[in-house]
Formats: sequence, structure tokens, C-alpha cells
Amino acid sequence: MHESQDLSPDSLVVAAGRPDRERDAPVNPSVVLSSTFLGTGPLGDGDRGYGRYANPTWEPFEDALGRLEGSPEPALLFSSGLAAVSAALSLVPLGGLVVMPGHSYAGTVQMATELAEKGLFTLRLVDVTDTEATLEALSADGGAADLLWLESPTNPMLGVADLPTLIEAAHARGALVVVDNTFCTPLIQQPLLLGADLVLHSVTKYLAGHSDVVLGALVARDAGLRSTLLHHRTLHGSIAGPWEAWLALRGLRTLALRVERSQASAQILAERLAAQSAVERVRFPGLPEDPGHERAKAQLKGFGSILAIDMAAGWGRTGAENADALVRALHLWMPATSLGGVESLIERRRRHVAEPESVPENLVRLSVGIENAEDLWADLSQALDALPAHGG
Ligand SMILES: Cc1ncc(COP(=O)(O)O)c(C=O)c1O
Repeated sequence: MHESQDLSPDSLVVAAGRPDRERDAPVNPSVVLSSTFLGTGPLGDGDRGYGRYANPTWEPFEDALGRLEGSPEPALLFSSGLAAVSAALSLVPLGGLVVMPGHSYAGTVQMATELAEKGLFTLRLVDVTDTEATLEALSADGGAADLLWLESPTNPMLGVADLPTLIEAAHARGALVVVDNTFCTPLIQQPLLLGADLVLHSVTKYLAGHSDVVLGALVARDAGLRSTLLHHRTLHGSIAGPWEAWLALRGLRTLALRVERSQASAQILAERLAAQSAVERVRFPGLPEDPGHERAKAQLKGFGSILAIDMAAGWGRTGAENADALVRALHLWMPATSLGGVESLIERRRRHVAEPESVPENLVRLSVGIENAEDLWADLSQALDALPAHGG
């Protein structure tokens, strides 16, 4: 294969970030455990210098993710998704305006809210599925937004934004556009190709895929923007450990298979859950009756593998109590926060105090893993069947 050969994403996840093809070279990059690098130039200089500036173990993953997102630039790995959020928000000028979905990941909203409360910028939280309202927020009160934050589908409401329209409108007002692409991965959505300036990932989730690391990443199309973010990462020290970076690349190798399997199962489970009387509503863009379905069909290469259900009240209990009873009665599904790993996880989101009150108390988020879909259904089904008998 020639380096310049155009590979499909499911080959790229396997082939990108490999060591050079030299006799007896390893097929995988090595973990480089060194906090400093030799400077052998005339001034004692080298290209890497110190372990907070660079580590060769980051580079194969950064190269692979940059290519997957369709950027000419390598990605930048961060110590967590939120460290990447912090770096992205640092791009907002003092006194600037940020427009953000109120239903972005709760940690992102919390960070933006705290920074806004300190007076660093003005924050407008919007319902990003409402295109008109979002467009209005971008230019209301005579001002123009400096940064449009997008997350689509949103976490955990699964709302789908009209990305092309919002990106174009934000650019027309001179705003930078960041898209959190954690839920979709570049296999389902490539925001840079829709015109976004920056893509963010909680690498912790699908990209690494095994619930064994916490990492984040940013991908910029523009070299200048990347270098500003690199400067931020270096100064703030929000860097990845070499082991974690290596594990993320190892996880990425199976991303296409994992996404294919888990989203096929999510579709089956969403359809079956929608027919259950104990389930008031299923939120999943793959269902034709979902408000985001048409948009998702037009914008995405799949519907992903996160779904949410609003549990009905009944048997003398509120919907939230039934949600808790459901989660407690499961054996295969694991009651834990996070998403995007090989194992299926389930949780009632409002158990977190930081979750906005606009997320219903009875909403349960399901991250569908790669187990057998019938086993996952059997477990859900027995837990739903047990609800009437379940002690309050
Ligand atoms: C959509 C989304 N973005 C960002 C984050 C933050 O990432 P991390 O937990 O890796 O800091 C999360 C974490 O759940 C998330 O779901």
C-alpha cells in the first residue's frame, strides 16, 4: 500500500499509525517511557525536548485520528475529554460570546457555566435541535458569537442538530465552530468535512473502546489553530500518559467492528423497547418516529449505539423509581456511568447532581456494547418483566 492511497475508514483504523516498513521493524509502535529526550544539536537541542512537549507514543494515535476526521493535521491527544474541552474553550476571547447546547455533556456545560460566572465570556445555552433559536442566539442583542459549541446527538437527550446550517451560519458571523463528536466517532459523522473548525472527542469512549483509559482529543483542520491548542496543552500539562495513548491506539484498531456491531444491536433494542408499556419513550435517532430521525438520516452514516428511555410510572412507583428498579434488576448490563466501551452500560442520568433539571428524572441512558443482542434483550426483558413484582 502506498501512503497516499485513499483508504476507507474501516481500513484506516487498522492501518494508520504503524511504524515505518523497515526490516524487522515491529508492526506496532512502542510505548516510550521517558520524561525527557536527548538534545544532541549544536545548542543541545532536539525536536522533542521534554515529555510535556511531546512523546512519540502520542503520535501514531494522533496521526490516525486526524486522518479519520479528514484533517490534513494530526489530532492532539489530551489527558481527558474535559481537558480537551478546557483547551477548546480557551480559544474564546475575554468578554466573548459562546453558544452551546444546554444538553451537551454535563461536564462541558458545567465548565462553560463556571467560566462564564467568572466573567470570562457570556454563555448562551440553547436547545440545539431548534435551529431558529440557535441562529438567534448566535447574533442576538447586536453581538455576534465567538464560538458555537455543537454536540449532536446530544448527551443524554439524543437530540440531533442541523450541523450544516448551524456551521454555515456561525461562520457567517465569524464564530469558530467546535463539534463534540464523541457519540458518533468519525465513522458515523465527520464534522470537519461539514465545515467545523474543531472536533472534540472523549477518547475514553468509543475510540479507545474498552473502558480502561481516560483520554481526550481535539482535531483542527487549520495548522495555526492546532498550534495554539498544542501551546495550551503544553503550558497546562494536560497530556496523555504513554500507556494510555498506546491503549487508545490498540482500541482504535477494532473501532469499525465495534461500531458496526453495537449500532446494529442498538437499533434492535430500541425497536423492542418502544413496544414496552413500562417504557414511556425511546430516544434514538434510528427510530422513524424519533424527532431527530430525518436529520440523522441525512447527516449521519449510522445512528450510533447510545439510546435513552423514559420509564413510565406504575405499580405504585414514579418513573424515576421504576428506572432505578430496572437498573438494579439487570445482570449483563452494568450499572455504571460512561459509554462507548465493549460492555453495555446503563444508568439513570439524574442520579448525577450536575445533570441539568431539563433531563427527565426517569431518563435512563443505555450504551450498547458488543455482546450478543439477544442476550442484551433477554436481560432487559427479564428486568422489565420483574417491575410489577419489584419491591418499592
Ligand atoms: C459527549 C462527551 N463529551 C465529553 C466528555 C468528557 O470526557 P472525559 O470523561 O474523557 O473527560 C464526555 C464524558 O462522558 C462525553 O460523554
